[in-house]
Amino acid sequence: MTNRDIDYGKQLVASVAGLALAAGILKVKKVLDTPSRTYIPGENTVGAEYDAWTEEEILEYYWGEHIHLGYYRDEDLAKGAGTLLGHRVKDFIEAKEDFVDEMYAWSGVEANNGGTKPKKILDVGCGIGGATRRLASKCVGPDSQVTGITLSSKQAARATALAERQGIPNADFQVMDALAMTFEDDTFDMVWACESGEHMPDKKKYVDEMVRVLKPGGTLVIATWCQRHAPPELTAVEKSKLQFLYDEWAHPYFISIKDYCSLATDTGAMTRVEGDDWTKQTIVSWRHSIWAGVYDPIPVFSRPKIWYKTLRDIVCLERMRRAFGEGLMQYGMIRGVKKE
Ligand SMILES: C[S@@+](CC[C@H](N)C(=O)[O-])C[C@H]1O[C@@H](n2cnc3c(N)ncnc32)[C@H](O)[C@@H]1O
Repeated sequence: MTNRDIDYGKQLVASVAGLALAAGILKVKKVLDTPSRTYIPGENTVGAEYDAWTEEEILEYYWGEHIHLGYYRDEDLAKGAGTLLGHRVKDFIEAKEDFVDEMYAWSGVEANNGGTKPKKILDVGCGIGGATRRLASKCVGPDSQVTGITLSSKQAARATALAERQGIPNADFQVMDALAMTFEDDTFDMVWACESGEHMPDKKKYVDEMVRVLKPGGTLVIATWCQRHAPPELTAVEKSKLQFLYDEWAHPYFISIKDYCSLATDTGAMTRVEGDDWTKQTIVSWRHSIWAGVYDPIPVFSRPKIWYKTLRDIVCLERMRRAFGEGLMQYGMIRGVKKE
């Protein structure tokens, strides 16, 4: 080919198109890397986010009544549960119901309660009440009362409607701030908190309040996303990854499992405080959530208004999975008993 054969016009168009594409990709990356739902102190950011999710109905469609991760036993994992091809090995929503049953068992509440079921349970940060209703209908039954609290009025309304529809009169719901609960001291036989601690701007107050309303001899059980314990100090890269995870889904900050245990112990009112890490049992949930949408995409495709938010959520789900996979995040389980 000679210089005369080269079509400079076409080359110029191809170069400009290539540059425009690269600039477009960088722009999209920058937008997706910039958190959009940052926690703002003093504003009901958390309640507003959950109001929006409840109204959109898409979270309930894919995640069911439970806004928390699922539980996968070794045998589920061995069969590939939660992976793209193993998507149907274990149903995503069934994994969440299993989580509630496993958390209830792990809490040790019945043994702590002299072999009997707790009569009054508080579910702190109850979402649309999936766990509250499962506790009320399956774990403890009609002789007990389970109360769920949330910052989102839409969630409380949806939770109440579902309890009525499902015929579960012993589950009730209120809009209440976990950091300023209006319950009397020593009210509940069990205080249950599943994936609400992440949103709390004051973790000490969160734990103090839950311990306050727990009866002597009562059981506290918390499941929450934690960051790894420091020291060793977090690196600049780790801090930047965490900052995105805080800011994308209205989280003020996270703490470690050990820090939660210290907060409970430091109340001076708790005994037998223990922590565990359930990352192995829960981590496939992040991608299972994405595969649920891949196998059943119509609900998203038919709602153009949520496309952008869904894309952002997929990015955050994957970043969460990576952070748990590399040990920057851990799935914290904390339990303890209030001293008599
Ligand atoms: C990830 S969802 C978990 C929902 C529920 N525990 C479940 O298992 O389905 C977090 C919940 O915590 C609630 N929450 C966050 N901060 C709260 C606060 N300060 N007081 C009461 N609820 C709060 C939110 O309103 C939301 O219902």
